[in-house]
Amino acid sequence: MKKVLKFIGLGLAAVFFVAICAAAYVQVRGIPSYDKPQVAAQHIAVTPVRLAQGQKIVSAMCADCHLDRSTGALSGKLMNDLPPEFGRLYSANITQDKANGIGTWTDEEIVGLLRTGIGRDGRFRIVMPNFVHMSDEDVASVVAFLRSNDRLVAANATPTHAQEPSFLAKTLVHTVMKPTPMPTSAVVAPPATDAVAYGRYLVLGRYKCYDCHSKDFKTNNALEPEKSEGYLGGGTHMLTPEGTDIVTRNITADPETGIGDWTEAQFVEAVRFGQSPNGPLKLPMPKFTLMDETEAKAIYAYLRTLPVIKNATPEDGGGAVAAR
Ligand code: HEC
Ligand code: HEC
Repeated sequence: MKKVLKFIGLGLAAVFFVAICAAAYVQVRGIPSYDKPQVAAQHIAVTPVRLAQGQKIVSAMCADCHLDRSTGALSGKLMNDLPPEFGRLYSANITQDKANGIGTWTDEEIVGLLRTGIGRDGRFRIVMPNFVHMSDEDVASVVAFLRSNDRLVAANATPTHAQEPSFLAKTLVHTVMKPTPMPTSAVVAPPATDAVAYGRYLVLGRYKCYDCHSKDFKTNNALEPEKSEGYLGGGTHMLTPEGTDIVTRNITADPETGIGDWTEAQFVEAVRFGQSPNGPLKLPMPKFTLMDETEAKAIYAYLRTLPVIKNATPEDGGGAVAAR
């Protein structure tokens, strides 16, 4: 009996020792680095079509995190809408400034970062979402716009603030938050004439609606988004810019807890202009002001084809006023 106890004691001591080592490792090593992503050599041509497309995507998908209102440029800022237990994290200066922005990054380096989350120095970028399913053409458009002389991206010398991740944030990047692999073949968007397929692409690839609108960031499946828990049924907790808790909404077609009772026109109005039948939509729901009507209608058509999820979010219970 004594022997067994001694054995268990030793076992526990070993587990404890391993845990301490793991914690020390995480604390010392901080944010992990990886091999630089292998990106096929390319020179992204800048065309008027790409500039317009890039502007549309960047203003919806990048500005909320990278825009500093005091400079009017994507010069980076404190991510004050992250839960404080992550520490103090800052978005980067992604203007064309050569010293402080991404003015000296090659096309391949920007593409590699957008696809995998790994920077040109190999360091994994935290909080920065990765755009795995975005089409090659859309990615090229984003890069083209980042090189344009739009005031959002014109060189601005504000230095990027060093990250101050908490132990929790460091632990997460060693466990659940990992880089995504480079796509192994061409990523092509379906034609806009095929509304349902196009809508699916917009939800997964171009605008990543599923990322916020499923059950929890931690259970999202980056490579196969449709396998994310509670896919598009809402429930992810986020913070508004004022720091109050907000739960993302169920956007499946359930008539009671989702948007099954919304008309197409109501949906288009809510997504493009932030006006839902229940009132104005708050950040972090992005403002998709430059999204065109075809895109919004395609998303609506796709959402209608999905399995319905019953998941009541705050606006379903207490009526418009109580919910907001
Ligand atoms: C949810 C917030 C968020 C969104 C949305 C976002 N970013 Fe970021 N991005 C960050 C943060 C935070 C960092 C810095 C991370 C770090 O240093 O670990 C970053 C880093 C970067 C970097 C690396 C710059 C450097 O010098 O290290 C580039 C390039 C970049 N983002 C481009 C983009 C583009 C283009 C988009 C839109 C397609 C975008 N980001 C969308 C938060 C975001
Ligand atoms: C960065 C996270 C985020 C992304 C990306 C996002 N949303 Fe949202 N969305 C939210 C949040 C948070 C709310 C709740 C806003 C509120 O209630 O004021 C919301 C609300 C909504 C609503 C209102 C639903 C209701 O019942 O009131 C619709 C519709 C919607 N989003 C559609 C979309 C679509 C379509 C996309 C992609 C094109 C998308 N969202 C992308 C976070 C996001």
